[in-house]
Amino acid sequence: MPFYVLGIESSCDETSAAIVRVEEGQPLALLSDVTARQEEVHERWGGVVPELASRRHLESLLPVVKTALENAKLTYPEISAIAVTNRPGLIGSLMIGVNCARTLAYGLGVPLIPINHLEAHLAAVLLDGAKIEFPCAGLIISGGHTSLYEIQEGWTGFKPLGHTRDDAAGEAFDKGARLMGLPYPGGPQVSKLAEAGNPKAVDFPRALLGRDQTDFSFSGLKTSLSYHLRDNPQANIPDVCASYQEAIVDALVTKTVQAMKRGNYRHLVVAGGVAANGRLRTKLRAALPPFISLHIPRPALCTDNGAMIAALGSVRFAQGAHVSGAELYDVEVSPSTEAKRARGKQKA
Ligand code: KG4
Ligand code: ZN
Repeated sequence: MPFYVLGIESSCDETSAAIVRVEEGQPLALLSDVTARQEEVHERWGGVVPELASRRHLESLLPVVKTALENAKLTYPEISAIAVTNRPGLIGSLMIGVNCARTLAYGLGVPLIPINHLEAHLAAVLLDGAKIEFPCAGLIISGGHTSLYEIQEGWTGFKPLGHTRDDAAGEAFDKGARLMGLPYPGGPQVSKLAEAGNPKAVDFPRALLGRDQTDFSFSGLKTSLSYHLRDNPQANIPDVCASYQEAIVDALVTKTVQAMKRGNYRHLVVAGGVAANGRLRTKLRAALPPFISLHIPRPALCTDNGAMIAALGSVRFAQGAHVSGAELYDVEVSPSTEAKRARGKQKA
């Protein structure tokens, strides 16, 4: 008998719900994935405003869940479990998602599965039928995080291998785009313009931090871009975008390949918004030895979505990592480093 897991994501500025069907011996099947974006709410502020994000989640969440059910041709009583992001993220946004999921779980009498947003980004590869050999390496590259992990058997543990010391890779794209007068979010804009540019036009620095380090750093690159734009007011923007993107991609690729060699991993999972970047996908594949399996979710599942929450929720549900009844009220939300990310976006 198949069962159905509803995933709810509201950690930052996307309200998303998705339904995954789990059937023994079958890969996870994504039946629906519905996202309400808030870009127009935050655009004029140049970054996500937490209070405005919370208010919009409150309005959008139940309609988004309802549409996800309709698209999956299911009704509430057919849902077997609900997975929800409870960390990290904007505290108000997380509370709205968790309270909604908790209330639905209580009313429907089904278990609740609290999910770490970053771990879920990596687990999105399960929706493309990826067969992973553990332990493997995982690279998360989003607007708020740039981190390498060793992922342990069955997605049960995530051992940190390296982090950014300052800006995240997505933040570097967003801040760079802003310096060039491009709209937020900057990653897709920079990568689009880069298609018509020469990646060798400007020699931007790559902070490689020594051969024995698998940390990242992107703030020097951003400073270098601001000096370049100041000193070259007539700069060719596609060339600058291509060169800037190349510097980010080269740093990500070099450090990841180093971590793969050091840990002797055979599988690499890459996820988060920046994993949608075509240049990164191409250069990473080319830099890895052929015996390494590279798993990157399809671009639509790289940015924030409810599908990844339902995917990791399905794994955790099968492992018994869920709560129900009175325990529902013990599920906590935690902002962790994601609160820092929202401030970073505003300052960008
Ligand atoms: O994972 P995500 O949707 O949200 C966070 O959890 O942060 O990632 C958003 C980030 C933004 O910084 C955005 O500029 C970047 O991912 N991004 C990209 C691309 N698409 C999104 N960066 C580079 N190239 C892209 N194609
Ligand atoms: Zn994310």
